[in-house]
Amino acid sequence: MEKLQEKIMADGKVLSDSVLKVDSFLNHQIDPVLMQAIGEEFASRFSGEGITKILTLESSGIAPAMMTGLVLGVPAVFARKRKSLTLVDRLYTASVHSFTKNETNDISVSRDFIDETDVVLVIDDFLANGQAALGLIDIVEQAGAALGGVGIVIEKGFQEGGAMLRNRGVRVESLAIISSLANGKVEFLEEEKAL
Ligand code: G4P
Repeated sequence: MEKLQEKIMADGKVLSDSVLKVDSFLNHQIDPVLMQAIGEEFASRFSGEGITKILTLESSGIAPAMMTGLVLGVPAVFARKRKSLTLVDRLYTASVHSFTKNETNDISVSRDFIDETDVVLVIDDFLANGQAALGLIDIVEQAGAALGGVGIVIEKGFQEGGAMLRNRGVRVESLAIISSLANGKVEFLEEEKAL
């Protein structure tokens, strides 16, 4: 997605060979016009899948998930990382290990919002090792719902998550795929080369 690549080039900051900071438009401050375009792009890519629900993980997945839900006309549900006061029973839960942060979080979603009649599109801001996506897919499976695919805003193509999910037969659509962050420079992979 050209608009996203341009934004990454203009405002992204390479923090190391493996980490890209994009908190001026995605992870902290949010660019609503870009998020709208992202929602339209995901909606168009997954329009044939019969999606009934979007599932993401708080917090940075919520903006692209909501914009996609708006365009597709379906609700967006976010998995919680922390226990909520009101979300106490009837839960689907999965463990998500972050290699970046070296911590494991239990994520949870109320059983009230996803069931076996749903076709779920999983959306997330970053795909690195794929652990967050796997946790969300686990929840889709616990619900007996169908997985319509996984939509990622920024995939780090040099980490293993994308290949791991595609090898499992999951349809992964990433709007920008970064092939390298070496020497402080962002390089993109043409999308078709990642498949
Ligand atoms: P994984 O889910 O693909 O295995 O990723 P990993 O454990 O490596 O990532 C943990 C957190 O760090 C996730 O956010 C993920 O989105 C984010 N992340 C991974 N690589 C990058 C990167 O290069 N740049 C940025 N900006 N973030 C990255 P999170 O902890 O869930 O944060 P948030 O959603 O609350 O913002």
